[in-house]
Amino acid sequence: MGKDKLRRFAEFSSFENCFDFPRYLKGKWHSDYFKNNHPIVLELGCGKGEYTVALSEAFPEKNFIGIDLKSNRMWVGAKKAIEANRNNVAFIRMVIEKLAEHFEKGEVSEIWITFPDPFPKDRHDKHRLTHQRFLKLYKEVIHDDGVLHFKTDDDGLFDFTCELFEQLRIKPIQLDRDVHNSETVDSYVKNIRTHYENLFSAKGRKIKYLSFKLPAQLEEPVSKA
Ligand SMILES: C[S@@+](CC[C@H](N)C(=O)[O-])C[C@H]1O[C@@H](n2cnc3c(N)ncnc32)[C@H](O)[C@@H]1O
Repeated sequence: MGKDKLRRFAEFSSFENCFDFPRYLKGKWHSDYFKNNHPIVLELGCGKGEYTVALSEAFPEKNFIGIDLKSNRMWVGAKKAIEANRNNVAFIRMVIEKLAEHFEKGEVSEIWITFPDPFPKDRHDKHRLTHQRFLKLYKEVIHDDGVLHFKTDDDGLFDFTCELFEQLRIKPIQLDRDVHNSETVDSYVKNIRTHYENLFSAKGRKIKYLSFKLPAQLEEPVSKA
């Protein structure tokens, strides 16, 4: 492993806005870390945390937490937040699958899913972050009225998600298949661009966006067989 990566790993753990699998904060993020009652917004698979940091500037009245497995990537966002004196930002190194071990039901108000790995093979569909398995997980932590945001360059993943939502009777709040040329999406959807978003749009791929709420009951999808 490179020296720079090792240094970032070590620094991540020492930053006051960074945490490794902090199960002890479950249900206590407001009281023990943010020390306010502002809504908590998560970015899942945040990479370098562009959304987490940019949204924290745009919405100082909300708290933001970036989540990823790779602390050397989150180091970039964590350092930016520290240098900008942003006290409404944190980063957690953990696996998304363990969300419910880290947050109480209702502790989270919004979730961003930004450019997740598409897992193009059908047999790997359960690993897609918009698979029903993950929607159930998000439901365990998000407020009943909470909004989820999903951005991707990947047509297959976007189509899979739209089809699943139809089967589950989840109505999109907003759906756009070409965000960068859209006149209707909010500026924070169009203008905040992640590392992967820049890579993919430079290759000419259209960036797609979907926002939605989870229904009270997540019904089983209708089988195609
Ligand atoms: C394609 S990258 C996108 C990063 C960032 N959102 C962006 O748009 O630049 C996917 C990210 O998800 C993280 N990731 C993948 N599976 C994960 C999991 N199960 N738990 C936590 N992070 C995960 C990876 O480490 C990686 O940083």
